[in-house]
Amino acid sequence: MFQELRWKLTRLFVVTSTAVFLAMGVLGGCLVYMGLTRSLDQELGQMAAELCPLIDLSGPSPSLGRWRREQRPASLKLLAYIQIFDSSARLVEEHGTNLPVPSLGFKQAGIEEVGVGRQRIRIYCQPIRVQGRLCGWLQISRVTSFRDGILKQYSFTLLLLTVALLLSLTATGYLVAGTAISPVRSSFDVLRRFVADAGHELKTPLTLLQGNVEALELGLAGSTPESLRARLKGIEEACAQMNGLVSDLLLLARLEAPNRAFSRQKVDLASLVGGVADGLMPLYKQKGVSLVCQLAPEHAWCHAPSLEKAVANLLRNALAYTPAGGQVSVGLRVLADAVVIEVTDTGAGIPADQIPRIFDRFHRGGRSADAHDGGSGLGLSIVKAVMEEHRGSLSVRSRVGEGSTFTLRFPSR
Ligand SMILES: Nc1ncnc2c1ncn2[C@@H]1O[C@H](COP(=O)(O)OP(=O)(O)OP(=O)(O)O)[C@@H](O)[C@H]1O
Ligand SMILES: [Mg+2]
Repeated sequence: MFQELRWKLTRLFVVTSTAVFLAMGVLGGCLVYMGLTRSLDQELGQMAAELCPLIDLSGPSPSLGRWRREQRPASLKLLAYIQIFDSSARLVEEHGTNLPVPSLGFKQAGIEEVGVGRQRIRIYCQPIRVQGRLCGWLQISRVTSFRDGILKQYSFTLLLLTVALLLSLTATGYLVAGTAISPVRSSFDVLRRFVADAGHELKTPLTLLQGNVEALELGLAGSTPESLRARLKGIEEACAQMNGLVSDLLLLARLEAPNRAFSRQKVDLASLVGGVADGLMPLYKQKGVSLVCQLAPEHAWCHAPSLEKAVANLLRNALAYTPAGGQVSVGLRVLADAVVIEVTDTGAGIPADQIPRIFDRFHRGGRSADAHDGGSGLGLSIVKAVMEEHRGSLSVRSRVGEGSTFTLRFPSR
């Protein structure tokens, strides 16, 4: 699919660039043609202007006998075919027969171009008048071989350049298209992995749900109230798991949406963090992990619900990965222009090679994707997205066997 897209982009690039190049080339050719034709016409006009005063008008019809006797003007050394017609347009004289030009007959006053065999001839025709009376016509013709030769050479060069351009554009276009689609390709890979991971995460609670429902259907008649309650509890847990996963996914999608709008207010951070800690205290007590809060009174502009979610995720992780008897502390410090929230635990710690990956979606440390001990691996990606939303950062320091410290840092205004 991406290879096809790459070739499509390459084709588009090559076709448009070549079309532009050809259009410019043709335009250049037209300008060269017009320029050369104009200078040819000027030369013909100049020849006529030099010849006219030399025409002998004393005889019955105009003649260039005098010109032939006298020295010919320099411009007339240029190869040209000169004809003199009398007033009734009858050819009376011709010169320059060394030109391969057949007798052209009489043309009207002005400039005209005709084709003779494979040659093109430009004809300049001018009336000869004496005191306003028409005595005859002077007609000078020249082959356009110089102009046509240059145009032929121009076209050939243009063709060669077009072929060279086609080849180089194809190579460049292919490389450029490859570079251009590589971010799309990696985003697509991320998306594909994400869909596969999300599907996998949903599959387990769905299987649980289906198993419990089927068991209820089959054994409803002989079931004891306890077994019924256990089945219903299983269904409830599977629903809660799916609900949590879907809520996390929706929150991530909202946090990463390009036109997200998280309204910020001035928030009392100590009571926000303290409130989250209080809410989780029963779970800490239940597991036998102590939770200590050291919160400086501070306000900051932030989106309270998403910040609450971030702090809760860190406190839940600290609880999950700290054994009974351990300790978790949450601190709130104020720096010159930033707020720092730190969650430190005395838990299992994280191996150094795992640290760069723990913020990836669905990453769950050393546990396999099937080991369902609660987490789906979205918690830290949500914390990271919340910090990005607050133009802040999330960092971690950890030592295996000693514990971990997660730090949230964001501007206070
Ligand atoms: N305080 C911690 N101590 C040790 N390991 C941790 C800690 N916090 C996170 N981790 C490691 O980082 C991984 C990713 O954490 P994250 O919060 O993203 O996912 P989770 O806790 O597994 O699942 P979820 O938060 O979605 O319920 C965890 O699976 C765990 O291996
Ligand atoms: Mg977690």
